[in-house]
Amino acid sequence: MPTTTLAIDIGGTGLKALLLAPDGTATTERVRVPTPKPATTSKVLEALVALVQPLPAYDRVSVGFPGVVVDGVTRTAPNLDPSWKDFDLAAELGRRLHRPVRVLNDAGVQGYGVIEGQGLEMVLTFGTGLGCALYYNGVYVPNLELAHHPFKHGKTYEDYVGKPALEDIGKKKWNKRVARVIAQVWTTWNPHKLYLGGGNAKHLDLELPPGTQITSNVAGLLGGIALWK
Ligand code: BGC
Repeated sequence: MPTTTLAIDIGGTGLKALLLAPDGTATTERVRVPTPKPATTSKVLEALVALVQPLPAYDRVSVGFPGVVVDGVTRTAPNLDPSWKDFDLAAELGRRLHRPVRVLNDAGVQGYGVIEGQGLEMVLTFGTGLGCALYYNGVYVPNLELAHHPFKHGKTYEDYVGKPALEDIGKKKWNKRVARVIAQVWTTWNPHKLYLGGGNAKHLDLELPPGTQITSNVAGLLGGIALWK
């Protein structure tokens, strides 16, 4: 029997899931529910269990989580709730779903769905927060939290281009800010390729520097297979 992976993306705004075949292609539609408020560990876990319950059978679970993750334990969750500090998400979700669970930062999972695996590749995701992931020859360099680095006038990158900023200043100004962020990323990191994704990538309307490309939002889930390689 081929191995089926349940891929889950925990977002600040939505919880998403679908099933993946061994080659990483989706075998179901993506299902989604709004992220519970407050997004405590117990409320999110309950919502996830209910979300995936109607899906067909699967053998293992990959989770993209919007914060720092070390060995399946969540360390930070800036856009969820303080209860995620030092929470063993892999163990707890495994207990509830009765399957092995692996957890990685959400941008890290997203990137695995799009990178080519050569040289330095970087991913930025524009969602509730600003996700960032770096890979060298296909190997993920964990937990680069560019989101919380100062960018300008005491504001972090995430303050500058996260969802609240987009809602506050509108698409036109937000795109100008994103262009400045992208320029800074190229100057600082010099990747071979820069991929842009996340739920708000659909609002991107700017000239992209060479080597920069927009990826599909479903990639947030497709990278789930890579967690088992
Ligand atoms: C978190 C990152 C996460 C990003 C997107 C940021 O606030 O610190 O870990 O990848 O949001 O969800």
